[in-house]
Amino acid sequence: MNSILILNIKSLVGIRDANAKMVRGAKMKILPSIKNAFLLIENGFIKSFGKNEDAPERADEIIDANGKFVLPAWCDSHTHIVYAGSRESEFADKINGLTYEEIAARGGGILNSAKRLNETSEEELFESAWQRLEEMKSYGTGAVEIKSGYGLCYEGELKILRVIRKLKEKSALTIKATFLGAHAYPQEFKNNHEGYLKILLEELLPKIVDEGLADFIDVFCEENYFSVNETKRILEAGEKFGLRAKVHVNQFNILGAVKMCVAQNALSVDHLELVAEEDIAVLKNSSTIPVALPSCSLFLKIPYTPARKIIDAGLPIALATDFNPGSAPSGNMNLVNSLACINMNMTPEEAVNASTLNGAYAMGVENELGSITIGNKANLIITKPISSLTMLPYSFGNNLVERVIL
Ligand code: NIG
Ligand code: FE
Repeated sequence: MNSILILNIKSLVGIRDANAKMVRGAKMKILPSIKNAFLLIENGFIKSFGKNEDAPERADEIIDANGKFVLPAWCDSHTHIVYAGSRESEFADKINGLTYEEIAARGGGILNSAKRLNETSEEELFESAWQRLEEMKSYGTGAVEIKSGYGLCYEGELKILRVIRKLKEKSALTIKATFLGAHAYPQEFKNNHEGYLKILLEELLPKIVDEGLADFIDVFCEENYFSVNETKRILEAGEKFGLRAKVHVNQFNILGAVKMCVAQNALSVDHLELVAEEDIAVLKNSSTIPVALPSCSLFLKIPYTPARKIIDAGLPIALATDFNPGSAPSGNMNLVNSLACINMNMTPEEAVNASTLNGAYAMGVENELGSITIGNKANLIITKPISSLTMLPYSFGNNLVERVIL
């Protein structure tokens, strides 16, 4: 048995009982905590916690957290971190006035990343994604959802999903894999959507499920990408194979996909830089969680997801990085929290709930991660000494995470 005892914690944050799944609406402002606390880890799981004076006397390792906060490690429920090369030239193009859509129309964007990925070996892809994961961990992230979607052909999509499987096997972070073959139509299928859908649904999907390579299915539902009808067909096919949906919707245009996703019982609808009244209404009585990606809004200079409108309507929201080479080349969840507070008017408590328990829910790991709960995996952040939790989003661009226990 291996035990770690954390003592003198200034505040132990994010305490929930075992049946908590997510927090929604006004409850998101509440972040249950214990001041001057201890926490005991046994064999990687949270064994007990409480007031410091009730702490057990010994353990294999003792950590003094005097002046420091302890909270659940971030659960980043939306990333595309397996990619080859970077796209900084598009960054410069954007400064010079081109939009994301215009860059894509010139053969840049997702197709540019797909070309490079297909020229890169599995080993190299693994190595670069591993470095990204390590960096994300240093910012306090303990669980990551990773999407495919830069292969865009039979071999390429399998390659990227196999890299994600290897990351799952080797990394201390908890990882979920999402099949995003429907990220863009390859050039040769621009005028033959049926041809590409056939590859996705008849060839790739059965193979992926057979090899156990994906936990979820995703589609980029957007003008010039996948229509609502095409998205629906893909989600239905995924459902037949037991893959629940997490869907890119309402990034640049409102196409009416939210309603369809809720009807398909999607786990999450992600982006939502634009939100219609109807979207709020259909999300209300559903188990589908909205996921906001403020780093993407910052980087592309597009609207931020209207979090206040969403939360004040009684809905939950999760926050994630969207880490990818085109619209959010950053895996920093601390920055995401700052942006959520500064540009989306979320309170620090709401941001932490959105990045922990709600993030865990948005990737289907809320039963084991995202809260301080007895029996949960002990994926924890120990902060540097800070005066209050608000210091985390307040100190934007800084990393106040001192240690991450996974
Ligand atoms: O979530 N919007 C679609 N997919 C990514 C961007 C991918 C890329 O530009 O390479 C996103 O923003
Ligand atoms: Fe994305």
